[in-house]
Amino acid sequence: MSINKASHYLVIENLTKRFGEFVALQDINLNINESEFVCFLGPSGCGKTTLLRAIAGLDLQSSGNIFQAGKDISVLPPSGRDFGIVFQSYALFPNLTVAKNVSYGLENAKIPKDQINKRVNELLEMVGLPEKANAYPANLSGGQQQRIALARALATSPSLLLLDEPLSALDAKVRVFLRHEIKQLQRKLGVTTIMVTHDQEEALTMADRIVVMKQGVIEQIGSPNEIYQQPKSVFVADFIGTMNFFEAQVMADNQIKIGELQFEHDSNIDTVVGERVTAAVRPEEFVISQQVESSEHKIEATIREIEFLGSLVRLRLSSKQMQAKSFIMNIEERMFRANALDEGDTISLSVITSPRLYPHD
Ligand SMILES: Nc1ncnc2c1ncn2[C@@H]1O[C@H](COP(=O)(O)OP(=O)(O)O)[C@@H](O)[C@H]1O
Ligand SMILES: [Mg+2]
Repeated sequence: MSINKASHYLVIENLTKRFGEFVALQDINLNINESEFVCFLGPSGCGKTTLLRAIAGLDLQSSGNIFQAGKDISVLPPSGRDFGIVFQSYALFPNLTVAKNVSYGLENAKIPKDQINKRVNELLEMVGLPEKANAYPANLSGGQQQRIALARALATSPSLLLLDEPLSALDAKVRVFLRHEIKQLQRKLGVTTIMVTHDQEEALTMADRIVVMKQGVIEQIGSPNEIYQQPKSVFVADFIGTMNFFEAQVMADNQIKIGELQFEHDSNIDTVVGERVTAAVRPEEFVISQQVESSEHKIEATIREIEFLGSLVRLRLSSKQMQAKSFIMNIEERMFRANALDEGDTISLSVITSPRLYPHD
């Protein structure tokens, strides 16, 4: 059956997956555009792999539908679907050469040998390992093995690339390098890509859109910038980047009080005067007061701890006025030095954006 879902490349409708009594995915609805790079992001066990496997047909959903390029693929076996997949563990065949690993899917497709060789060389060139054709997986580093796994996944030129934590097993430096490489390759090929990760930095740096998941449901879908700047819930705010949370009370339509200080708020939720809410401020949204001309109340805070992060310095602060025992501010290393700050110093701060508000729980 062909249904007109043409406006999106991949459409997931009311998808639910149960393992016995346990609900691993609950009523997932998601549209993915052609050539988009989407990350499924969330803590371990939230259902990312289960959703990816449903899209691949490796584990059928309990209910719901999946459409790919306008076609209902909901109950097709993996072999009837159009995708390439890379797992966290490189999953290369140890007894086959790199070339044989890469050509595996092509041999099955009964393609002439000279064409296969040409394609394998092209793929190895593409992932930057043309000289490794005759090597065995055991002789490659983790990063190299994962590049071969990527070449293998792309061999049949699938229009959908599925990546399940492809970088998680690698060293930090290789990981950062491969992030960039995978992203560039994806851009060049224009292949619609879904990558599962529990690493928010990976998702923020690589994705066009991030799908934040929590316990089998989607918490928020948005661009990295949206997810970072306007997290929809305390969960997302806490999971992505660093966020300071303060107990606050609504004083007027656009005013809240944190401790004894009044702030204008972001109006991102409807509030009732008198209501207790949670206010959220990122570490880089505090500045030392002299930096800005501000009519806002200055926050008196005491430096409890100093942590060097290179170009930034992270200050752990407390503020009696805000009734906050511990919150974090990032300051440029240059500013830190210019102000000759030290532990125990009391500093005067402003907030450069209005605190975001969340219902108090
Ligand atoms: N085959 C299975 N049988 C039973 N429970 C499963 C199975 N696969 C996954 N689960 C459970 O479903 C939940 C989601 O798993 P998974 O999708 O692997 O999470 P993630 O990839 O986000 O870490 C987990 O609680 C996991 O234990
Ligand atoms: Mg997983």
